Amino acid sequence: MKKVAVIGYGSIGREIIASAKRQEIPNAKIIAVFDKQSQVLNSVDKENGDVHLFSDFDEFYHSQTYSSSDVIIECASKDAVREFGKKIIESKKDLIVLSVGAFSDKEYLAELQDLSTLNGTRILIPTGAIAGLDSIRSVRRYLDSLTITTTKHPKSLAGAPFFKSSRIRLDDINNETVLFEGNASTAIELFPANVNVAVAVALAGVGLEKTHVKIMADPLISVNKHEIVAKGSFGEIRIVVQNIPSPTNPKTSYLASLSAIECLRSFCNENFRIGT
Ligand SMILES: NC(=O)c1ccc[n+]([C@@H]2O[C@H](COP(=O)([O-])OP(=O)(O)OC[C@H]3O[C@@H](n4cnc5c(N)ncnc54)[C@H](O)[C@@H]3O)[C@@H](O)[C@H]2O)c1
Repeated sequence: MKKVAVIGYGSIGREIIASAKRQEIPNAKIIAVFDKQSQVLNSVDKENGDVHLFSDFDEFYHSQTYSSSDVIIECASKDAVREFGKKIIESKKDLIVLSVGAFSDKEYLAELQDLSTLNGTRILIPTGAIAGLDSIRSVRRYLDSLTITTTKHPKSLAGAPFFKSSRIRLDDINNETVLFEGNASTAIELFPANVNVAVAVALAGVGLEKTHVKIMADPLISVNKHEIVAKGSFGEIRIVVQNIPSPTNPKTSYLASLSAIECLRSFCNENFRIGT
Protein backbone atom coordinates (compact mmCIF):
# COMPACT_ATOMS: atom_id res chain seq x y z
CA MET A 1 0.00 0.00 0.00
CA LYS A 2 1.43 3.41 -1.01
CA LYS A 3 0.95 6.24 1.47
CA VAL A 4 -0.10 9.48 -0.15
CA ALA A 5 0.03 13.05 1.19
CA VAL A 6 -1.99 15.71 -0.63
CA ILE A 7 -0.99 19.38 -0.78
CA GLY A 8 -4.01 21.59 -1.54
CA TYR A 9 -7.58 20.81 -0.65
CA GLY A 10 -9.28 22.67 -3.49
CA SER A 11 -11.22 21.33 -6.44
CA ILE A 12 -8.55 18.78 -7.50
CA GLY A 13 -7.55 17.75 -3.96
CA ARG A 14 -11.18 17.10 -3.04
CA GLU A 15 -11.73 14.92 -6.13
CA ILE A 16 -8.61 12.87 -5.36
CA ILE A 17 -9.72 12.22 -1.80
CA ALA A 18 -13.30 11.45 -2.86
CA SER A 19 -12.00 9.00 -5.46
CA ALA A 20 -9.72 7.29 -2.93
CA LYS A 21 -12.67 7.02 -0.57
CA ARG A 22 -14.68 5.31 -3.33
CA GLN A 23 -11.73 2.88 -3.55
CA GLU A 24 -11.03 3.79 -7.16
CA ILE A 25 -7.27 4.07 -6.49
CA PRO A 26 -6.20 0.57 -5.50
CA ASN A 27 -3.13 0.25 -3.31
CA ALA A 28 -3.29 3.96 -2.25
CA LYS A 29 -3.97 5.30 1.21
CA ILE A 30 -4.39 9.03 1.75
CA ILE A 31 -2.65 9.74 5.03
CA ALA A 32 -2.34 13.54 5.11
CA VAL A 33 -3.70 16.75 3.68
CA PHE A 34 -1.83 20.03 3.94
CA ASP A 35 -3.56 23.29 2.96
CA LYS A 36 -2.50 26.74 4.10
CA GLN A 37 -6.16 27.67 4.65
CA SER A 38 -7.02 25.91 7.89
CA GLN A 39 -10.76 26.53 7.39
CA VAL A 40 -10.92 24.39 4.22
CA LEU A 41 -9.57 21.45 6.20
CA ASN A 42 -12.72 21.42 8.34
CA SER A 43 -14.52 19.72 5.50
CA VAL A 44 -12.02 16.91 4.90
CA ASP A 45 -13.95 13.72 5.26
CA LYS A 46 -12.15 11.82 7.96
CA GLU A 47 -14.17 8.70 7.17
CA ASN A 48 -11.57 8.14 4.46
CA GLY A 49 -9.35 6.76 7.21
CA ASP A 50 -6.86 8.35 9.54
CA VAL A 51 -6.18 11.46 7.48
CA HIS A 52 -3.91 13.88 9.32
CA LEU A 53 -4.61 17.54 8.61
CA PHE A 54 -2.02 20.33 8.51
CA SER A 55 -2.20 24.03 7.78
CA ASP A 56 1.47 24.71 8.57
CA PHE A 57 4.10 23.32 6.20
CA ASP A 58 6.87 22.94 8.81
CA GLU A 59 4.55 21.03 11.12
CA PHE A 60 3.52 18.81 8.18
CA TYR A 61 7.12 18.34 6.99
CA HIS A 62 8.46 17.33 10.40
CA SER A 63 5.55 15.05 11.27
CA GLN A 64 5.71 11.29 11.56
CA THR A 65 2.91 11.16 8.97
CA TYR A 66 5.07 12.99 6.41
CA SER A 67 8.05 10.72 7.11
CA SER A 68 5.95 7.65 6.45
CA SER A 69 4.53 8.93 3.13
CA ASP A 70 5.67 7.48 -0.22
CA VAL A 71 4.45 10.22 -2.51
CA ILE A 72 3.33 13.82 -2.25
CA ILE A 73 0.74 15.05 -4.72
CA GLU A 74 0.71 18.81 -5.18
CA CYS A 75 -2.60 20.33 -6.29
CA ALA A 76 -2.28 23.77 -4.68
CA SER A 77 -0.52 26.50 -6.65
CA LYS A 78 2.61 27.48 -8.55
CA ASP A 79 3.81 29.17 -5.34
CA ALA A 80 3.41 25.94 -3.38
CA VAL A 81 5.68 24.13 -5.87
CA ARG A 82 8.26 26.93 -5.59
CA GLU A 83 8.04 27.03 -1.79
CA PHE A 84 8.07 23.32 -0.99
CA GLY A 85 9.36 21.46 -4.08
CA LYS A 86 13.03 21.32 -3.09
CA LYS A 87 12.32 20.33 0.50
CA ILE A 88 10.08 17.50 -0.66
CA ILE A 89 12.70 16.15 -3.07
CA GLU A 90 15.46 16.55 -0.47
CA SER A 91 13.39 14.38 1.88
CA LYS A 92 13.54 11.65 -0.83
CA LYS A 93 9.82 11.66 -1.57
CA ASP A 94 8.38 11.22 -5.05
CA LEU A 95 6.44 14.30 -6.12
CA ILE A 96 3.44 14.59 -8.45
CA VAL A 97 2.97 18.19 -9.64
CA LEU A 98 -0.29 19.59 -10.99
CA SER A 99 0.79 23.25 -10.95
CA VAL A 100 3.16 22.62 -13.82
CA GLY A 101 3.23 26.38 -14.52
CA ALA A 102 5.90 26.52 -11.79
CA PHE A 103 8.23 24.82 -14.27
CA SER A 104 8.09 27.74 -16.67
CA ASP A 105 11.19 28.80 -14.71
CA LYS A 106 13.80 26.72 -16.51
CA GLU A 107 16.47 27.22 -13.86
CA TYR A 108 14.16 26.11 -11.09
CA LEU A 109 13.11 23.03 -13.06
CA ALA A 110 16.76 22.11 -13.77
CA GLU A 111 17.63 22.55 -10.08
CA LEU A 112 14.74 20.32 -9.03
CA GLN A 113 15.67 17.69 -11.63
CA ASP A 114 19.28 17.65 -10.39
CA LEU A 115 18.10 17.29 -6.79
CA SER A 116 15.78 14.51 -7.83
CA THR A 117 18.64 12.61 -9.52
CA LEU A 118 20.80 13.12 -6.43
CA ASN A 119 18.09 11.87 -4.09
CA GLY A 120 16.79 9.05 -6.29
CA THR A 121 13.24 10.42 -6.47
CA ARG A 122 10.82 11.05 -9.31
CA ILE A 123 8.93 14.17 -10.37
CA LEU A 124 5.74 13.21 -12.22
CA ILE A 125 3.56 15.61 -14.18
CA PRO A 126 0.09 14.29 -15.02
CA THR A 127 -1.24 15.11 -18.48
CA GLY A 128 -3.78 17.31 -16.68
CA ALA A 129 -6.48 19.19 -18.55
CA ILE A 130 -5.15 18.23 -21.97
CA ALA A 131 -4.54 15.08 -24.01
CA GLY A 132 -1.73 13.77 -26.16
CA LEU A 133 1.39 14.77 -24.19
CA ASP A 134 2.68 11.27 -24.92
CA SER A 135 2.48 11.86 -28.69
CA ILE A 136 3.99 15.36 -28.47
CA ARG A 137 6.86 13.91 -26.44
CA SER A 138 7.36 11.13 -28.99
CA VAL A 139 7.69 13.54 -31.93
CA ARG A 140 9.52 16.39 -30.17
CA ARG A 141 12.72 16.01 -32.21
CA TYR A 142 10.76 16.22 -35.46
CA LEU A 143 8.58 19.27 -34.71
CA ASP A 144 8.58 22.36 -36.94
CA SER A 145 5.77 24.11 -35.06
CA LEU A 146 3.71 23.61 -31.92
CA THR A 147 0.64 25.75 -31.17
CA ILE A 148 -1.95 25.63 -28.43
CA THR A 149 -5.13 27.70 -28.52
CA THR A 150 -7.13 27.95 -25.29
CA THR A 151 -10.69 29.31 -25.28
CA LYS A 152 -12.52 29.90 -22.02
CA HIS A 153 -15.55 31.73 -20.73
CA PRO A 154 -14.54 35.20 -19.41
CA LYS A 155 -15.42 34.16 -15.86
CA SER A 156 -12.81 31.37 -16.07
CA LEU A 157 -10.17 33.98 -16.88
CA ALA A 158 -11.12 36.49 -14.17
CA GLY A 159 -8.30 37.67 -11.93
CA ALA A 160 -5.51 36.98 -14.44
CA PRO A 161 -2.59 39.46 -14.19
CA PHE A 162 -3.11 40.13 -17.93
CA PHE A 163 -6.05 42.39 -17.09
CA LYS A 164 -3.95 44.69 -14.88
CA SER A 165 -2.11 46.04 -17.90
CA SER A 166 -4.71 45.47 -20.64
CA ARG A 167 -7.45 47.84 -21.76
CA ILE A 168 -9.70 44.81 -22.34
CA ARG A 169 -12.32 44.46 -19.60
CA LEU A 170 -13.84 41.00 -19.15
CA ASP A 171 -17.31 42.47 -18.58
CA ASP A 172 -17.23 44.16 -21.98
CA ILE A 173 -16.50 40.97 -23.96
CA ASN A 174 -19.63 39.94 -25.84
CA ASN A 175 -18.17 37.79 -28.61
CA GLU A 176 -15.15 35.55 -29.16
CA THR A 177 -12.09 37.74 -28.51
CA VAL A 178 -8.38 37.03 -28.84
CA LEU A 179 -6.75 38.21 -25.61
CA PHE A 180 -3.20 37.06 -26.11
CA GLU A 181 -0.84 35.60 -28.68
CA GLY A 182 2.77 34.88 -27.83
CA ASN A 183 5.02 32.20 -26.40
CA ALA A 184 4.26 29.87 -23.47
CA SER A 185 6.75 31.67 -21.26
CA THR A 186 4.81 34.97 -21.41
CA ALA A 187 1.42 33.21 -21.36
CA ILE A 188 2.05 31.63 -17.96
CA GLU A 189 3.09 34.99 -16.49
CA LEU A 190 -0.11 36.66 -17.70
CA PHE A 191 -2.54 33.76 -17.10
CA PRO A 192 -0.90 31.66 -14.32
CA ALA A 193 -4.07 29.82 -13.29
CA ASN A 194 -5.21 29.08 -16.83
CA VAL A 195 -2.32 27.89 -18.95
CA ASN A 196 -0.71 25.06 -17.02
CA VAL A 197 -1.59 23.05 -20.13
CA ALA A 198 0.51 25.34 -22.35
CA VAL A 199 3.53 24.81 -20.10
CA ALA A 200 2.94 21.04 -20.07
CA VAL A 201 2.69 20.97 -23.88
CA ALA A 202 5.83 23.14 -24.17
CA LEU A 203 7.84 20.92 -21.81
CA ALA A 204 6.73 17.81 -23.70
CA GLY A 205 7.62 19.43 -27.02
CA VAL A 206 9.94 22.23 -28.09
CA GLY A 207 10.16 24.31 -24.91
CA LEU A 208 8.47 27.47 -23.68
CA GLU A 209 10.01 30.00 -26.06
CA LYS A 210 9.16 28.07 -29.22
CA THR A 211 5.61 27.05 -28.24
CA HIS A 212 3.02 29.44 -29.64
CA VAL A 213 0.03 30.17 -27.36
CA LYS A 214 -3.25 31.88 -28.21
CA ILE A 215 -5.78 32.71 -25.48
CA MET A 216 -9.37 33.56 -26.33
CA ALA A 217 -12.37 34.59 -24.25
CA ASP A 218 -15.81 33.54 -25.45
CA PRO A 219 -18.94 34.46 -23.44
CA LEU A 220 -20.95 31.80 -25.32
CA ILE A 221 -18.69 28.86 -24.53
CA SER A 222 -19.59 26.50 -21.68
CA VAL A 223 -16.41 24.40 -21.80
CA ASN A 224 -12.67 25.04 -21.39
CA LYS A 225 -11.40 24.31 -24.89
CA HIS A 226 -7.78 23.52 -25.81
CA GLU A 227 -6.64 22.86 -29.35
CA ILE A 228 -3.09 21.68 -30.07
CA VAL A 229 -1.60 21.61 -33.52
CA ALA A 230 1.82 20.01 -33.92
CA LYS A 231 3.49 19.87 -37.33
CA GLY A 232 6.77 18.40 -38.49
CA SER A 233 8.51 15.80 -40.60
CA PHE A 234 6.50 13.07 -38.82
CA GLY A 235 3.21 14.51 -40.13
CA GLU A 236 0.63 16.46 -38.17
CA ILE A 237 -1.18 16.01 -34.85
CA ARG A 238 -4.39 17.87 -34.01
CA ILE A 239 -5.89 17.47 -30.57
CA VAL A 240 -9.09 19.17 -29.40
CA VAL A 241 -10.23 18.86 -25.80
CA GLN A 242 -13.49 20.39 -24.60
CA ASN A 243 -13.51 20.21 -20.83
CA ILE A 244 -16.34 20.71 -18.38
CA PRO A 245 -15.11 23.27 -15.82
CA SER A 246 -14.91 22.03 -12.25
CA PRO A 247 -18.07 23.09 -10.38
CA THR A 248 -15.97 24.49 -7.50
CA ASN A 249 -13.31 26.25 -9.59
CA PRO A 250 -14.23 27.33 -13.14
CA LYS A 251 -10.54 27.94 -13.94
CA THR A 252 -9.90 24.22 -13.47
CA SER A 253 -11.22 21.56 -15.84
CA TYR A 254 -12.74 18.41 -14.40
CA LEU A 255 -10.38 16.39 -16.64
CA ALA A 256 -7.43 17.76 -14.61
CA SER A 257 -8.81 16.03 -11.49
CA LEU A 258 -9.41 12.80 -13.40
CA SER A 259 -5.88 12.94 -14.80
CA ALA A 260 -4.40 13.50 -11.31
CA ILE A 261 -6.36 10.49 -10.03
CA GLU A 262 -5.17 8.35 -12.96
CA CYS A 263 -1.55 9.42 -12.38
CA LEU A 264 -1.83 8.41 -8.73
CA ARG A 265 -3.51 5.14 -9.71
CA SER A 266 -0.67 4.23 -12.06
CA PHE A 267 1.94 5.33 -9.47
CA CYS A 268 0.40 2.99 -6.92
CA ASN A 269 -0.13 0.10 -9.38
CA GLU A 270 2.97 -0.06 -11.54
CA ASN A 271 2.51 -3.57 -12.93
CA PHE A 272 0.55 -2.55 -16.05
CA ARG A 273 0.55 0.72 -17.98
CA ILE A 274 -1.07 1.47 -21.29
CA GLY A 275 0.11 4.50 -23.26
CA THR A 276 3.64 5.79 -23.62
N1 LIG B 1 -1.85 20.64 -15.04
C1 LIG B 1 -3.08 20.99 -15.37
O1 LIG B 1 -3.58 20.70 -16.47
C2 LIG B 1 -3.92 21.75 -14.38
C3 LIG B 1 -5.28 21.91 -14.61
C4 LIG B 1 -6.03 22.57 -13.67
C5 LIG B 1 -5.45 23.11 -12.56
N2 LIG B 1 -4.10 23.00 -12.39
C6 LIG B 1 -3.44 23.60 -11.23
O2 LIG B 1 -3.61 22.75 -10.11
C7 LIG B 1 -3.61 23.55 -8.93
C8 LIG B 1 -4.85 23.19 -8.08
O3 LIG B 1 -6.03 23.49 -8.80
P1 LIG B 1 -7.44 23.58 -8.02
O4 LIG B 1 -8.46 23.89 -9.05
O5 LIG B 1 -7.61 22.40 -7.14
O6 LIG B 1 -7.19 24.90 -7.15
P2 LIG B 1 -8.12 25.48 -5.99
O7 LIG B 1 -7.88 26.95 -5.99
O8 LIG B 1 -9.49 24.97 -6.09
O9 LIG B 1 -7.46 24.86 -4.66
C9 LIG B 1 -6.12 25.06 -4.31
C10 LIG B 1 -5.98 24.81 -2.82
O10 LIG B 1 -4.58 24.83 -2.53
C11 LIG B 1 -4.34 25.66 -1.41
N3 LIG B 1 -3.04 26.32 -1.59
C12 LIG B 1 -2.68 27.21 -2.55
N4 LIG B 1 -1.41 27.60 -2.38
C13 LIG B 1 -0.95 26.94 -1.29
C14 LIG B 1 0.30 26.94 -0.61
N5 LIG B 1 1.31 27.72 -1.00
N6 LIG B 1 0.42 26.15 0.46
C15 LIG B 1 -0.62 25.36 0.89
N7 LIG B 1 -1.83 25.33 0.30
C16 LIG B 1 -1.98 26.12 -0.79
C17 LIG B 1 -5.47 26.68 -1.39
O11 LIG B 1 -5.70 27.16 -0.08
C18 LIG B 1 -6.64 25.88 -1.95
O12 LIG B 1 -7.42 25.28 -0.93
C19 LIG B 1 -3.58 25.02 -9.37
O13 LIG B 1 -2.27 25.51 -9.30
C20 LIG B 1 -4.03 24.93 -10.81
O14 LIG B 1 -3.52 26.01 -11.59
C21 LIG B 1 -3.34 22.31 -13.26
